[in-house]
Order: sequence, then C-alpha cells, then structure tokens
Amino acid sequence: MLEMRGITKRFPGVLANHRVDFTVNAGEVHTLLGENGAGKSTLMKILYGLYQADEGEIFLSGERVEIHSPTDAIAHNIGMIHQHFMLVETLTVAENVALGLPSNRGLRTDLDAVSERIEELAGRYGLAIDPGAVVWQLAVGQRQRVEIIKALYRDAQLLILDEPTAVLTPQEVDQLFVTLRQMTDDGRGLIFISHKLHEVLALSDRITVLRQGTITGQVPVEGATRESLALMMVGRQVKLAPDKPPVEIGEVALEIRGLSVMGDRGDKAVRGLNLEVHAGEILGIAGVSGNGQREMAQAIAGLRQATAGSIRIGGVETTNHTPADVRKNGLAYVTEGRLRDGAIADFSVSENILLIDHTDKRYLKRGLLDFKAIKEHSLRLVDEYAVKTPTIDTPAKNLSGGNIQKMILAREMSGTPTVLVASQPTRGVDIGAAEYIHKRLVQQRAENTAIMMISEDLDEVFALSDRIAVIYEGQIIGIVDRQTATREQIGLMMAGVRPE
Ligand SMILES: Nc1ncnc2c1ncn2[C@@H]1O[C@H](COP(=O)(O)OP(=O)(O)OP(=O)(O)O)[C@@H](O)[C@H]1O
Ligand SMILES: [Mg+2]
Repeated sequence: MLEMRGITKRFPGVLANHRVDFTVNAGEVHTLLGENGAGKSTLMKILYGLYQADEGEIFLSGERVEIHSPTDAIAHNIGMIHQHFMLVETLTVAENVALGLPSNRGLRTDLDAVSERIEELAGRYGLAIDPGAVVWQLAVGQRQRVEIIKALYRDAQLLILDEPTAVLTPQEVDQLFVTLRQMTDDGRGLIFISHKLHEVLALSDRITVLRQGTITGQVPVEGATRESLALMMVGRQVKLAPDKPPVEIGEVALEIRGLSVMGDRGDKAVRGLNLEVHAGEILGIAGVSGNGQREMAQAIAGLRQATAGSIRIGGVETTNHTPADVRKNGLAYVTEGRLRDGAIADFSVSENILLIDHTDKRYLKRGLLDFKAIKEHSLRLVDEYAVKTPTIDTPAKNLSGGNIQKMILAREMSGTPTVLVASQPTRGVDIGAAEYIHKRLVQQRAENTAIMMISEDLDEVFALSDRIAVIYEGQIIGIVDRQTATREQIGLMMAGVRPE
C-alpha cells in the first residue's frame, strides 16, 4: 500500500528523520517504536501532509504521490489519530466529524445524516459515543473515539495511530484492538505507535525501530520479546519495575473527608469520598477513567470547586483555596492533560519549568529574576529528566509528546512537596524515561512525600504502590495492601464489586 523512501526532515538544530525507508502492506499492522523524540510523529506527519519532507518520496500502491496537506492525505484515504487531539472543543461530536466534509445540502440535514452514520459506525466498531455531546465535556478516552470515527467516516484505508492507547483503559485497549483487527481484516493497513511493549507485541505484524531519526532495526513480531524490543530501542537493558526499599510510613499528609465534586456535565463526579495518604507512602489509585479521578485531583489542586467535604494538606485546610495557595501549602500536581493544562505551548522550556517558581527566592536577586540561576536550574532539570530539546529556549510546542511530559514532570517533581498527586505519570513516555520517573517517585517517597499516583496501568500500580485504592463512581470502593492485593481483586473492584 505504502512506501516511504529516503525521507529526511530537519528542524532547527534537529535531524528528526534521516533517510527513512518505511512500507506498509495491506492488511498489516506495522509498528513504529522508538524513544521520545526519535522522530516517529514527524515521519507520520509527513505522510499525513502536516510537514513536508526535505528529501524523499512517497508511493501509494506503487504510484508516486505528493502530499501537501491533510486534505491531500484524506483524498488518498489516509487517516490519522493524533497524539494530541485535534478536535474543536466547542463543537459537538457530529459537527467535528462533519467539519471539512463537502456539504451539498443544508448543514442541519447534513448533521442528522452524519449523526446517523456515526451511530452506525459506533455500533459496528464498538465505539460508544453520543453524536450530540460537546467535545469539551468529553473525557480523553471518548475524544479519541471521536477521532477514530472521524477517520472511519472518511473511509481511511491507511490509518496512522499515534499512541492511541496512551489515553485508554485496559478494557478500552482490548476493545480498540478488536476494532483495529477488524480493520486489517478488511484489508486496511495500520501504522501503530506505542510505548507499551506488551501492546506492540499483541497487535503488530512487523516492528520498525527508530533511533534519533534513523531506522536501526526491523523485525517481525514472531520471536520478539519485551526485553529484545527494549534493547533495540534504548540500546541497554531496562528495568521494567523499580527497586523499592521499605520506608517508614509517616503521619497523614493528605486527608480527604466527605469530598464531593461536580463534573463538567453538572453530574456528581465525586460523591463523599474519604481518603488518607501518609508521608512516605505511594498510594496507587486504580480505576476505570471517568470514575472521578480527574475531578478529585483537580479539587485537591484547587482547580475545581469542592461542593462538600474537606481537604487538608499537611494538617492545613486547603479546600477551595486558589491553586497558588494550595501549592504554597506543599502540593505538586502532575496533570493528565499535559499540553492542555500542564504546559504553555508558546513558552520556552525554561519558562515552562519556571512557571510555578517565579516567586521562589532562589531565582530572585534584589527583587529581580536571576536569569543565570534560572538557566542553571532549567539546564539541570532538562539534563536530569533527559528532556530532549535543542535548547532550553525552544518553545514547548516544538518538543515531542513524551518530552513535553518529561518537562512537566521535571517541574513538578523537582522540589520536595508534602503531597504529590501524579496523574498517569508515565503516559506517553518511553520505557527509559518511565524507568527514571519510577525511580524518582520512589526517591520522593524516601524523602517523605505522600504520593497519590493515579494510573490506569495496572502494571504501574502494582510496581509502585504501597497501598492500592480503587475508585468507582466517585467513591473509594476499597483499599488493599499491595502485599496482599491480587489483580483479580482489583479488577473486580474496578468493575464496581465491593470487597467483603
Ligand atoms: N515543529 C517542530 N519544530 C521543531 N522541532 C520539532 C518539531 N516537531 C518535532 N520536532 C523535533 O523533532 C524530533 C522528533 O520529534 P517527534 O515528535 O517526531 O518524536 P517522537 O518519536 O514522536 O517522540 P514521542 O515518543 O515523545 O512522541 C524531536 O527532537 C522534536 O523536538
Ligand atoms: Mg510522538
């Protein structure tokens, strides 16, 4: 179906793709694997017409094509599910799907037809979605379904999926894979990008590894293992779970009593939730997304109103205080929606790192910002967290997805907060970076920070937690000690079955 030949792409200070050859056959899943910043998204954006290659050619079914824009790509039946969603927040699902489609009747009647077709596709591929819902109200997992439906609606034969599973629950991932397999059975070709090796092994037919813009290996899935792929990707052995020395559990650092919080749709997202996190422990919050995790975390951070109950950080009442005030009381917060509310796209890496620290005495000199200290601090964090960027003055939007995330983690985890709330801390980062982030979380635990880690990745929950709390419909339905917890038990609670 597809042959990309000798693709080279340069950005200022970066060789993002270097003479890359890449092919996809009809009916196969070809996976692109590589560290953050390796050039995967860039190659796919070239294929989708978002970037122009400096050198190289693209052939579709043996014919040379020029793809200057996504419109060209769509005309060639290429679809793309982006790493960062491209939906218009203020429009409905149906309006987003209809956007850019030729219309020969009135918009209103068109929308009815569009909604009907959406429901048809949704039913066929198990992508439950309400065509009338407004996008800003949708959770990330639902937004992605809209993106997939949008591509299916345009009859994409070649579908690019740039980290589609990063935002999905394990159950949703299983469902997605069934959908994707249906697509390849129809003879469609898929390009898959993921940092989760077990997914890569489960879905791929072929795997190509990119390293610093260059292809360094290609293997069929048969015979590949997580370890062999990790080695190909990073060039060294990677620890898939961190060493966790025992620490003494301290007093309660985060105390939540009877917390209620509204969701975006005016629903009760959190309903009288009680929870305590102790200094020196990692409390893992397991749960299917959309059960109040996001609203709870935002309420703790002062980013969303609590309608009832109280939150105390280090013994101090912080309920409905401003985010800045909550932060001053010792909270650090790693958000789940990185580019949306974790970073400012047009600000430089250095400015993003300084965002929360601009009143910090360390960076002030006679009341003015001390640029030398700021620079040193930024450089140190960029180095420690291996944020791949040409310079610290590069705007955040030019970084690869995983590197934006590492930048936010560097900022939030650089101090020693009393309480750290980390939502999906390793979502979208490569395995080398995940290893480092896990190590840092364990270090912060040793420094007595109380850590609440919200994660849909059960491997991660089990690898890091001291206790595991399961959230269901806005309440903690059970808490178990990591030592005695089993996956079956946690899985049942995630489905709403209360423990004995
Ligand atoms: N618009 C841009 N301007 C400047 N540099 C860019 C731009 N887009 C990407 N880059 C750079 O090109 C390199 C490759 O980035 P790319 O987004 O392709 O990585 P990736 O493999 O998709 O990584 P990740 O796993 O983190 O998503 C990175 O060094 C990135 O900073
Ligand atoms: Mg990418």
